[in-house]
Amino acid sequence: MNQNELKKAAAERAVSFVQEGRVLGVGTGSTVDFFIDALAASGKKVPACVSSSVRSTEHLERLGFKVLDPNEVDEIEVYVDGADEIDSGFHMVKGGGGALTREKILASLARTYVCIADESKLVPVFGRFPLPVEVIPMAVGVVSRQLKALGGEPKLRDFTTDNGCKILDVSGLQITDPVALEEKINQIPGVVTVGLFARRGADVLLLATADGVKESAA
Ligand code: A5P
Repeated sequence: MNQNELKKAAAERAVSFVQEGRVLGVGTGSTVDFFIDALAASGKKVPACVSSSVRSTEHLERLGFKVLDPNEVDEIEVYVDGADEIDSGFHMVKGGGGALTREKILASLARTYVCIADESKLVPVFGRFPLPVEVIPMAVGVVSRQLKALGGEPKLRDFTTDNGCKILDVSGLQITDPVALEEKINQIPGVVTVGLFARRGADVLLLATADGVKESAA
């Protein structure tokens, strides 16, 4: 199986976690795109979704799903999203698709975060995938200097987020304590969101491997 086939397998398995009659949280990325298609094909009755990006909202609406503003929702039962990296403690690095801020907001609203990923995303230590940090545009310079002081090499992504902000992709970090680093980067003035999802990680991991989709819970 190639990587897309693995992503699709994890995404299809996640449909069984969707509770009919409840608002569903939907993340962003190519794995989530497979999930949205699988959900539509399943015919499951979802009254409404909240989505972490314009991209996913448009995809959902194209397939006939209603999408609510998160301000209209107090709690989400299930949130389905991917990850760029995930470790054995179900901490994640996210933001490769640039939707990290809205993803973190929806994760905070969710009772159960279901992470869908192919096996290449499971890592022993974070750091191979550059860590995305969303930053207010006027703070790109000052935040870059602070990230360099932490040992990182920030690179400005040629991209503007759905929130009108910029993203610094930070390579060179050895992330042995993701909870501490998430807190430290959150403290830098001008940072909107760091793509470390450590304090609030995933609850369920659906990891697609050559031997099938492996399901584990935190
Ligand atoms: C989007 O901002 C990210 O957090 C995605 O969850 C992540 O990049 C996974 O993307 P793929 O499913 O495309 O690999």
